[in-house]
Amino acid sequence: MTDSVTIRRPDDWHLHFRDGDVMRGVVPYTARQFARAIVMPNLTPPITTAAMAADYRDRILAAMPDGVDFEPLMVCYLTDDTDADDLVCGAEEGVFTAAKLYPANATTNSAHGVTNVRGIYPVLERMQEAGVVFCVHGEVTTPDIDVFDREAEFIERYLRDIVANFPDLKVVFEHITTRDAVEFVLESGPNVGATITPQHLHINRNAMLVGGMQPHNYCLPVAKREEHRLELRKAATSGNPKFFLGTDSAPHFRGDKESSCGCAGIFGAPYALESYLTVFDEEDAIEQFEGFASLHGPAFYGLPVNEHKVTLERMRVEVPDELALAGSTIVPWHGGQSIGWKFVG
Ligand code: DOR
Ligand code: ZN
Repeated sequence: MTDSVTIRRPDDWHLHFRDGDVMRGVVPYTARQFARAIVMPNLTPPITTAAMAADYRDRILAAMPDGVDFEPLMVCYLTDDTDADDLVCGAEEGVFTAAKLYPANATTNSAHGVTNVRGIYPVLERMQEAGVVFCVHGEVTTPDIDVFDREAEFIERYLRDIVANFPDLKVVFEHITTRDAVEFVLESGPNVGATITPQHLHINRNAMLVGGMQPHNYCLPVAKREEHRLELRKAATSGNPKFFLGTDSAPHFRGDKESSCGCAGIFGAPYALESYLTVFDEEDAIEQFEGFASLHGPAFYGLPVNEHKVTLERMRVEVPDELALAGSTIVPWHGGQSIGWKFVG
């Protein structure tokens, strides 16, 4: 039995840092385990220009603990009015790594998102030319579509057409939750990849709804049926370079989740690698862990792999019920449970 796993230092290809005191509280958890992260731009107001992204990056770097080497990779929040010149210029200057499509009202702080996906095709054209990665929250938002079908429907309504029209655009289908998404990524060319969160590998929709409503298992896209979870586990542990790590760590205060209108999002950062490695261990695929966590993402984004290494050891770790943060509390992913791996640095 493998009791110690050492891999190149990983990156988190999708997370939310927020801003202000919350950002200062959450950044150290990610910087402890990861070398870089794709930082989502759904702040209020959203990060829509290169100048805003450069300022936000400075605030994140100022929050880094002393001596910690961590690189935030910034993302432009696409709107119906995105200025393609500013986006491409920002990418050329090294501010933007990617741009993110939030369909309007799909999730937290997406009210300024795109109302007409085909309306941003001229921007996608420029991104394709300039080599800017396109990150997609792939859910339709029309009320006629059941919340459990929103991802599959997005593929048929929009994603197939985008991939057909922009064959050289690098597309990351973010936080995929369905067999449909796995199949779409597998049948697409090498420019289409996907991130997978730890929660979608661990839980199905029962974890949200059985035995009382479980707000700490609620995120968007929502977890689906067990058959979908099993497909995600197969994809993540397969060694296929199209699939890579993205926690979608999305901190919300405990009170904002345990509320009559609970926020979507799971704070995965504190025990992220332990959570993923548990899945690879259960699937008897520890040898594929480094690819998923540390190699496939940089290859897709065209960035170098990290030189330093990290180690995890087989050991029971109790995950606290909650963490004190920014004068309040946040429940971490696996809060109140024990987990079989320990990150030792
Ligand atoms: O669960 C989620 N939380 N999904 C998202 O897409 C956004 C995120 C957030 O920002 O809280
Ligand atoms: Zn997200």
